[in-house]
Amino acid sequence: MLIFVSLLSNGRAANEDIVLPPVQTDASLPERLLVFIPGADVPTDNYKLTAQAIQSAATGLRLHVVITSVFAELCIGYCPSEWACDSLKNRVADAVAKSTFTGANPKDDTFVAGHSLGATCANYLVTYQQYQYAGLMVFGGYVDQTGASSLFNYTTPVLHMAGELDGGSARPGTLAFYYGQSRSWGLTHGEKARLTFKPVHVLPGLDQSDFCPGFFVTAVKDLHSEVTQNVALSTIGDGASAFLHLNSPTTETVKSAAMTTMEGMQSFSASMMDPILDAFAQEQGPWCKVAQHTIVGLDAADDGKLKVNLDVVPFSDFVDAHTNYTVQADGNLEVTVVSSSEAATQHQAARSVDCKMVDATRVAMELGVTTDPNVTCADVNKQAVTEALSLVSDRSRERYEEKGRGWCWKPDATVLGNVGPLFVEGMITLTEAADCWEVTSLSLVLTTSSWMFPGNHYCKLLSPAMAMEWIMTDSLKPYPWHAMTSDFMI
Ligand SMILES: *[C@@H]1O[C@H](CO)[C@@H](O)[C@H](O)[C@H]1NC(C)=O
Ligand SMILES: *[C@@H]1O[C@H](CO)[C@@H](O)[C@H](O)[C@H]1NC(C)=O
Ligand SMILES: *[C@@H]1O[C@H](CO)[C@@H](O)[C@H](O)[C@H]1NC(C)=O
Repeated sequence: MLIFVSLLSNGRAANEDIVLPPVQTDASLPERLLVFIPGADVPTDNYKLTAQAIQSAATGLRLHVVITSVFAELCIGYCPSEWACDSLKNRVADAVAKSTFTGANPKDDTFVAGHSLGATCANYLVTYQQYQYAGLMVFGGYVDQTGASSLFNYTTPVLHMAGELDGGSARPGTLAFYYGQSRSWGLTHGEKARLTFKPVHVLPGLDQSDFCPGFFVTAVKDLHSEVTQNVALSTIGDGASAFLHLNSPTTETVKSAAMTTMEGMQSFSASMMDPILDAFAQEQGPWCKVAQHTIVGLDAADDGKLKVNLDVVPFSDFVDAHTNYTVQADGNLEVTVVSSSEAATQHQAARSVDCKMVDATRVAMELGVTTDPNVTCADVNKQAVTEALSLVSDRSRERYEEKGRGWCWKPDATVLGNVGPLFVEGMITLTEAADCWEVTSLSLVLTTSSWMFPGNHYCKLLSPAMAMEWIMTDSLKPYPWHAMTSDFMI
């Protein structure tokens, strides 16, 4: 799990517990408490406007907010894991005692929220307390990927919200992973239940710092917000209050307005994240199928004679899996391509899509047609960018075309002795340059005259999902952002 630790801080605001009594006075409204856990290095004062925006949007509740201060602005010191969160539990109780909130049962009346690293702590706290809260809101952060505290399995309602222009680990490419769990949960529980219990939203034009106005979380790593502070606050207030309303005993009118808000947010979230999930799916086989057709350089008229099957294997089995081919009775050539992918460290997108394919000389020989033996892995990578540009939303594409840095294609690299095991151990090279991202695929070409495994072409390819990361996020950053990631700890 990535943890945000910013070493870059600006003007220090106060870091005391902040207790905000309800702004709604109607005694018939349900009384609820929101406990807010700050992100790393961020003083509580910088969350006051955010908390107030949520309070004023939550018109159906008498909502108390307690922003809990933590020593050195690091909640993780009180709560390093899901099994060791007692200090944070006590710190929260201590802060809540300063409010006039007199709740009976946290499972009904208390919500926990956190921003950035505070989202991680909030998730740990709720898990540590065995989900005995009314709900969890994670802003610019996320819950566990797997297990009981994965979004799919969470037994309390969870809202995820992060900025479209979050350049760190809660970027749309990461949130899409959680959105995928939410979407698959929704298949069996229905869309309204999904938007009530597990909504995952990307907020248009916001960055990570919009959750803590006045404090710039990540001076280098982040992109810049494209909305005013007021727009950011009302977007956050609308989403958070809709979630609180849907998970509290509010009136039908309030709930129905909240659902309308969620549905509106969902349509933007879907436009950002459905394409990312499509690109993740391509990594699981389909992209090697595309690559196989491209790499052999058949004329369009002959391409239909090549039938491609997939053998999708975990990376640990990639070294021992091999292609095969048969000429069918009708004269077509049926080939089996081996597909795998390698995980990246900072992305959900694969570092590379690895394909063992049949080569151009084999296809020419078996089909008795002309092929182009000069097509390279780099040619397939250019296709990945075309694919990514066709997948991203118009908004992302236009921003990239206006401000983003492009691509530099290096000739395919080869391994010593051109042998399979070294190819499997090697990697695609992705290097940030001043004006582009340099991509160097690793390749292994064994023509039909090769003495070992003749008739194969192996590539470590750029994933279309990784191309989307560059287009939607990293290409927009000032150069060189990666050299200054001391504010980023794993
Ligand atoms: C949810 O829990 C079940 C049962 O423990 C487990 O098999 C499944 O992998 C979990 N889901 C996720 C996304 O981790
Ligand atoms: C080709 O490989 C696949 C996957 O290993 C296998 O299922 C298939 O039977 C093989 N076909 C031939 C003709 O060897
Ligand atoms: C492949 O490249 C070689 C060397 O540059 C060239 O001689 C040949 O004509 C090329 N083949 C095709 C089909 O383009």
